[in-house]
Order: sequence, then structure tokens, then C-alpha cells
Amino acid sequence: MRSALALLPVPIFLARLTVAHLAAFNKGMYCLNGTVAGQPDVNSGDPVTPLWNLQQSDYWFHHVNKCDEFPPAPGDFLELPAGGSFTVEVASNQGLTTLTDGGKHTSEWPDGQNHPEDYSITNLAGAPLSPSGCIRNPNMHTQNQSMAAGTAFAIAYVSDISQVTPDNLVVFSVRYNTPWKRVTSYDVPANMPACPEAGCICAWNWIPNGCGEPNMYMHGHKCMVTNATSTTPVAAPKPPVWCEEDQSQCVQGAKQVMVWNQAEGNNIAVTGYDLAGDHKSPAYNSKCGFKDGAQNDIFGNASNGTSSRKKRMTHKVKRAGLFF
Ligand SMILES: *[C@@H]1O[C@H](CO)[C@@H](O)[C@H](O)[C@H]1NC(C)=O
Ligand SMILES: *[C@@H]1O[C@H](CO)[C@@H](O)[C@H](O)[C@H]1NC(C)=O
Ligand SMILES: *[C@@H]1O[C@H](CO)[C@@H](O)[C@H](O)[C@H]1NC(C)=O
Ligand SMILES: *[C@@H]1O[C@H](CO)[C@@H](O)[C@H](O)[C@H]1NC(C)=O
Ligand SMILES: *[C@@H]1O[C@H](CO)[C@@H](O)[C@H](O)[C@H]1NC(C)=O
Repeated sequence: MRSALALLPVPIFLARLTVAHLAAFNKGMYCLNGTVAGQPDVNSGDPVTPLWNLQQSDYWFHHVNKCDEFPPAPGDFLELPAGGSFTVEVASNQGLTTLTDGGKHTSEWPDGQNHPEDYSITNLAGAPLSPSGCIRNPNMHTQNQSMAAGTAFAIAYVSDISQVTPDNLVVFSVRYNTPWKRVTSYDVPANMPACPEAGCICAWNWIPNGCGEPNMYMHGHKCMVTNATSTTPVAAPKPPVWCEEDQSQCVQGAKQVMVWNQAEGNNIAVTGYDLAGDHKSPAYNSKCGFKDGAQNDIFGNASNGTSSRKKRMTHKVKRAGLFF
């Protein structure tokens, strides 16, 4: 089969890359091949666009361009080995991952280009700076690897994406200093219980630390826990809080995905400056109480006695009135 990439006029493809941001690509993702029914786009950038100042119904699972309406092929899941790790491809376009053309257009980096190993605003090797003085290509919203804010995967133990709410979506894995390279791995807690037979719903999340519009990223995946041995469910998650200056103030246990700078549904607010002297920006790192790697404290009745199942039902009722 001829690749659609080869047929695209080069300038158009490059033009798309310069505006692109990032998403985590894999076969279990929603809106693989884009968001036009019947017209697979193997150079889709649909999941990578930032979310800013949107209604909840639009930012949630990137509904703003209908990403959530295009599930992966039946049987394709992002597999999460309990106690192990999994990899995804962080990229600015599907065409720059192994999902397209057998990976012919990939590099070590999310933009398919080559960059120095210690790529930074002081080691650009000819690449441009962004208008905000950060790395521009790929659009990683950072000055260097150590400033990269961190990204996270969250899971909801439901199989229907429309059943996922802020109250049942739990952050289970964090990778500090990402997004950075294309192939990125995340660790899975050993105690992750199995999903329902039709799988779970996962979300990839990122809030960059400045370097442009203060937006957020979220998109969906069908996922499945493999090698599960524990049956204790995940606890109902709580909204994280900023706790950089005093780690004793961090929220312990299961935490929600952070919603920031949207038109509604924000669950974290910050004011002032962080310890580095920059405007505070919530992040999937220690500033908001997230440890690097598997989040091992998310199970059981960590939120005071109520069983997770009972809690979930309470939230379902609440959701009918408050959410969507
Ligand atoms: C994506 O497009 C490729 C190439 O047309 C096709 O082989 C694959 O089945 C498609 N997958 C989905 C989920 O649409
Ligand atoms: C599952 O567990 C078995 C036995 O403990 C182990 O050999 C195997 O590597 C595990 N598989 C994964 C995907 O982690
Ligand atoms: C990364 O960038 C920040 C902000 O520009 C800077 O303070 C820091 O020294 C840099 N770190 C490295 C390792 O280059
Ligand atoms: C859950 O509650 C039971 C009974 O109160 C307690 O024994 C157990 O340690 C709790 N587990 C967690 C993870 O809090
Ligand atoms: C449980 O409730 C007590 C009293 O309301 C509170 O102090 C404590 O922080 C709670 N623990 C957790 C893990 O939510």
C-alpha cells in the first residue's frame, strides 16, 4: 500500500509540524488515524492540540475535535503490566511514530528530527527558539530536560468512555522530566487490579511549565491491566494541591487528573511564584505531590472507610446533576 505521507506535499506536512504540540501514540489510543470517519489519516495531529479555556464537555478526552468518538480497532489496547512498565510514543504527529509507514519517519525525538542528546535552549544545534524563549521543535514547552514538567497516565475502571468522570479517573503513573524523547516508559503499580472484560479507559495528561499559553493536554486510550494479582480497587481520587514549599501539605493517596485554566471544572488553582521564581504552574511532579513512577498508594479505602464501589455510585448520582 502506498503511504499517504509520501503523497503529501512536503511544505504542508512541515507546516503542520511547526504548530504541533504532543500526544502519546499507541495502538490503543482514541483517534488513531484522525477524526474523519472513513478517511484514515496516518499523518493525524488530532490528539496533539492543546486544551485551553474550554467547557468540560470539550476538554474531557479531547472531545473538542471529537477524538473521543474514534475508538481504537476492536481488541487493540494499551497494555499495562501490573508491576512492570509500558511504553508509548510521544510525538507531534502520528506520521512520526511507528504506527505509520513502519516508523520510516521516526527519530529519537517527538518531531522526527535529530537533536543533540543534551538538547536545550543553550544547545540548539541550529534549531530555532520559540517566541517564549524555549525549545520550539518539538514543541515541548521547556528549556531543557530538567525543566520538562512531567506527564501522567490515569485509569478509570469502566469500559465506556462516557462513564469516566473526574471522580473515577485516577492517576496511576507519572514520568518526571517528560515529555522529552519519543519512546517514553511509564511504570505500573504491582497492585493494579484487572479491568472489566471490555477493558478500562486511560488518559494521558500533561500540563507544561510555561513556555507559551498555559494550557493542558488530555487524550484517551483503551487500556487493559495484564498480570494482575490484586483485587483491591483503586480508591476514589482527590484533587491534588500545590505543595512545593511544604511536602507535608501534599494530598496523599489516589489523586485526580489536574484540570487547569479551563472555562469550568478546574480542580487546582495556584497564585504567585514557584521556588525557581517562575509563575506557578501545576505539574505531574513533586510540586503537586506526585512521585515519579508507579503511584503505589492509590488503592483501597485510603479515603476514609467508604468502599470504592459505594463511593463510585454516590458519584454517579452526583455526576448526573453536576457533570456534562
Ligand atoms: C489506521 O489506518 C491504517 C492504514 O490505513 C489501517 O491499517 C488501520 O487499520 C487503521 N486503524 C484504525 C484504528 O483506524
Ligand atoms: C507476568 O508474570 C509472569 C510470572 O510472574 C512473568 O514471567 C511475565 O514476564 C509477566 N508478564 C508481564 C507482561 O509483565
Ligand atoms: C534548564 O533550564 C533552566 C531554565 O532556563 C535553567 O535554569 C537550568 O540551569 C537549565 N538546566 C540545565 C541542566 O541546563
Ligand atoms: C481499610 O479499612 C480497613 C478497616 O477499617 C482497615 O483495616 C484497612 O487497613 C484499610 N485499608 C487501607 C488501605 O486504608
Ligand atoms: C481521614 O479522615 C481524617 C479525619 O476526618 C483525616 O484527618 C484524614 O486526613 C483522612 N485520611 C485520608 C487518607 O483521607
